[in-house]
Amino acid sequence: MKNILVTGCAGFIGSNFLNYILKERDDVFIVNLDKLTYAGNLENLKPIENNKNYRFIKGDITNVELVDYIFTKYSIKYVINFAAESHVDRSILGSSVFYQTNVMGTNVLLEAARRYNVEKFLQVSTDEVYGSLGATGLFTESTPISPNSPYSSSKAAADLMVQAFHHTYGMPIVITRCSNNYGPLQFPEKLIPLMIINTLNGKKLPIYGDGLNVRDWIYVIDHNKAVELVFEKGKIGEVYNIGASREMTNVEIVKLILNKLGKGEEMIEYVKDRPGHDRRYAIDSSKIQNELGWKPSFQFEQAMEYTIDWYLSNKNWWDRIISGEYQKYYEVQYRNR
Ligand code: NAD
Ligand code: TYD
Repeated sequence: MKNILVTGCAGFIGSNFLNYILKERDDVFIVNLDKLTYAGNLENLKPIENNKNYRFIKGDITNVELVDYIFTKYSIKYVINFAAESHVDRSILGSSVFYQTNVMGTNVLLEAARRYNVEKFLQVSTDEVYGSLGATGLFTESTPISPNSPYSSSKAAADLMVQAFHHTYGMPIVITRCSNNYGPLQFPEKLIPLMIINTLNGKKLPIYGDGLNVRDWIYVIDHNKAVELVFEKGKIGEVYNIGASREMTNVEIVKLILNKLGKGEEMIEYVKDRPGHDRRYAIDSSKIQNELGWKPSFQFEQAMEYTIDWYLSNKNWWDRIISGEYQKYYEVQYRNR
């Protein structure tokens, strides 16, 4: 049995990860430490809440005593760190909590991992640490780190710290850097769920700038399978890029959603651009493909269709979210745009 502390699993990617891995395997015991911020929702974990190999602890990864207690009580030998403040626009409105959680939180986990001699520490990172690409080229693992937003700079700082713990203390770390995810359970502040829900509610679809910024989309389960593989087989000290080579402009994504939902392009509203908006992300994932044998298994059109259908049939899930705290954020974020 592997005793793993997996953080931030009430959020989008982490909840999909636990729902997937605990269904597939019974050789892992997982403690999920999550603060339940605005982005954390225990409803996401209904399928596994009574699993005998699972415990939930509500708490903050920056809490040294709590993290220490968890390592002792559950004999933790492995860490997978999903917990983060994850939304670029929020990081532009206020950056402190991003550095607190993403940098200091990672430091608390690393220090505990060092005290308890963990056997593997997997840091879930993002392609955004590489900065922005022009019209051509791809991010490889040797692309220099050059983050542009408070969010991506906090993730880059964490990556550098994780690598420093490997070089200095011999900590057995691995880092994954994935491109933009989509799928069920994604919080509606992010592009795809926001556009689906606005369409269903008859609200305008706010596209930043000229809408020609490019993101490289991957279905969340493909990301999670790659994380599992890197956790099991990734070479200590290494970084692995994860992506499904599906570049799309934002306007293409929005039109695809409108088309699927039978609505017209008059719902689109071009609004003021995001400050410092990265133009293009695109991932070269040949390292994980060649060295670990991973490849994406979901086809973009089908997985997008499934995702849109999921939002159509889970109105209760997102209705509760958009009627609460989120409403205030939406007003501030999209006011005067
Ligand atoms: P999310 O915002 O949906 O979920 C984050 C989770 O972390 C929430 O459950 C939240 O409650 C928890 N959390 C936040 N601060 C915490 C703290 N201080 N202590 C404990 N828990 C805390 O994010 P997501 O989209 O699921 O992203 C998960 C990870 O994957 C992040 O590290 C993110 O940087 C990375 N990532 C995301 C994407 C993407 O497209 N969403 C792509 C690549 C990498
Ligand atoms: P987002 O989902 O916030 O992910 P990230 O910024 O981490 O890539 O945004 C994806 C793209 O969509 C990005 O180029 C910004 C753009 N976008 C809009 O045009 N309008 C919106 O309302 C949002 C939330 C994003």
